[in-house]
Amino acid sequence: MKVTVKVPATSANLGPGFDVAGIALTLYNTFTFELIDEGLIFEGCHPDFSNEDNLVYYAFKEGAKEVGLAFKGLKMTFDNQVPYTRGLGSSSTCIVAGIVGAYAFKGKQDDRHAILNLATKIEGHPDNVAPAIFGGVTVSAVLDEVITLDIPVKHKYTFMALIPDFTLSTEQSRKVLPESYTKQDAIFNVSHLALLIGALMNGEDRYLKDAFKDKIHQPYRGKLIKGYDEMMHIFDYDEHVLGAYLSGAGPTIMAILKEGTSIETIKGRLGTLIDGWDVKILEEDEVGYTYTIE
Ligand code: HSE
Repeated sequence: MKVTVKVPATSANLGPGFDVAGIALTLYNTFTFELIDEGLIFEGCHPDFSNEDNLVYYAFKEGAKEVGLAFKGLKMTFDNQVPYTRGLGSSSTCIVAGIVGAYAFKGKQDDRHAILNLATKIEGHPDNVAPAIFGGVTVSAVLDEVITLDIPVKHKYTFMALIPDFTLSTEQSRKVLPESYTKQDAIFNVSHLALLIGALMNGEDRYLKDAFKDKIHQPYRGKLIKGYDEMMHIFDYDEHVLGAYLSGAGPTIMAILKEGTSIETIKGRLGTLIDGWDVKILEEDEVGYTYTIE
């Protein structure tokens, strides 16, 4: 039996929804799992990650424990399109795929709520794993169990992911955040997240630029990214941009474009600020992970 799991990239936080909101995007990592008689075989995985500490393998083992799957050896094949440590949920694809892979050997690959709970436990917060599992725009709360709700977004948007040529780990990027915030900052974020959800559901695009602002993480993390303030300033005044935010823990910057916008025009406005950066044009993925079993 061979299980293949395809997991979408995700863009977490969506500005003010720190550790809460996220969206699945049309860029994918695909992983294939086969049980073997002994050992660990990696195919298509960078040699630095082809070892017992591999995150996909860790998630597979945790998933196997939960569903009572005993296995002697595992072959994993990777086909990865999501850039690593760039704020596009690459680690969530690994975690979700590993769990789904293990669950599939027990016929439980559709138990998305159990998968969400375990994936959140491994990742530490639900905002990336939830859209990777369910697709679309999601908001999540960690109660006794993780609750995820789908946000029905009225319009279809074009996401321009501006991906720097350097990495920024979530661990590094969480370290620069303060331990506490003022009441004004808390109110700012609550009101902006409410505005964002309302604007997305009602198609009120005119509010998006303001709605993506936040006081919890972007002002602190932006300082780690050369050109961040200049780019956000350009987006604030560009009529072709509906809104912009730092994707996940960064360093990718996400701009949402008005329909019919020429990508070259936006690139031209950013000029040398994005020299060496990769630019990907993405849409919302509406389904989350998919799988095949042969
Ligand atoms: N909410 C997380 C953060 C997403 O911003 O740190 C990245 O894992």
